Amino acid sequence: MTYKTVHIICFSPTRTSYRVAKEIADGTGIEHLQEHDLTLEDSKGCRLGKEDLAIIAVPTYAGRVSLTAIERLQAIQGEGTPAAVVVLYGNRDYEDALIEARDTAHSLGFIPVAGAAFIGEHSYSSPDMPIAQGRPDTKDLEIARDFGKQIARILQGTEDIQDISLPVKGNSPYKERPQRTPASPDTIRERCTGCGYCATICPTGAITIKDIAESDDNTCIKCCACVKRCPNQARTFFTPFREYLYQNFQARKEPEFFYPNK
Ligand SMILES: Cc1cc2nc3c(=O)[nH]c(=O)nc-3n(C[C@H](O)[C@H](O)[C@H](O)COP(=O)(O)O)c2cc1C
Repeated sequence: MTYKTVHIICFSPTRTSYRVAKEIADGTGIEHLQEHDLTLEDSKGCRLGKEDLAIIAVPTYAGRVSLTAIERLQAIQGEGTPAAVVVLYGNRDYEDALIEARDTAHSLGFIPVAGAAFIGEHSYSSPDMPIAQGRPDTKDLEIARDFGKQIARILQGTEDIQDISLPVKGNSPYKERPQRTPASPDTIRERCTGCGYCATICPTGAITIKDIAESDDNTCIKCCACVKRCPNQARTFFTPFREYLYQNFQARKEPEFFYPNK
């Protein structure tokens, strides 16, 4: 089987999932690339076929796949389409996120043929309390590219991908999602120019510009895209988890991979 197009399907507020997915896609050597970025509210759905390969990359939130990602993935459909499932996590743990990503892909008509967990700078990382700062770094991206090559090898060496079963780390039933506590980043008035960039990158449309940026606590998913990507560093998010993560998860973790049972 010749695969014509590699599709990146991602939800990636702070872009770590996207960057890893892009490197994996490039590594497959499949010439034609199509991106389906589900990060923004107006993201479009798509239907993929048997000659497509999907790289599905999503962030871990509280040991599960981000709920917004799960919701937006429902607009994507495969038809026996092979998929690599990839989760990003902020150097703490991905717990049941990868198994949930695998099962979700399967329920949408994909055949998971490889899995991986990569480390991305934690959404709550800050310059004074860095957590996996700068990840994925050059080494991670090289590894991601190699993983892409490995996926291409698996597909070449498999007659019928229908028979593939992919074991990954994680438990089912998945751990419970924590109860939602309404909160959102604050704006440093003196730094905010009211440019509105944060509102354009907010995945849930939680930000409005009055004279400065203001978030709606009930709509915000605390992804910290606005904090990380504000050109004037005008956004901050207070969470007690930051110090806990900083204190306890400094030791560098490395990407993990899962391949089909022979
Ligand atoms: C609400 C929330 C919950 C998170 N939970 C976890 C977690 O359970 N374990 C972990 O290691 N990182 C966790 N993270 C960090 C993200 O998984 C990590 O920063 C990821 O790289 C973000 O992906 P993105 O850049 O594609 O948005 C969490 C981040 C947020 C915003």
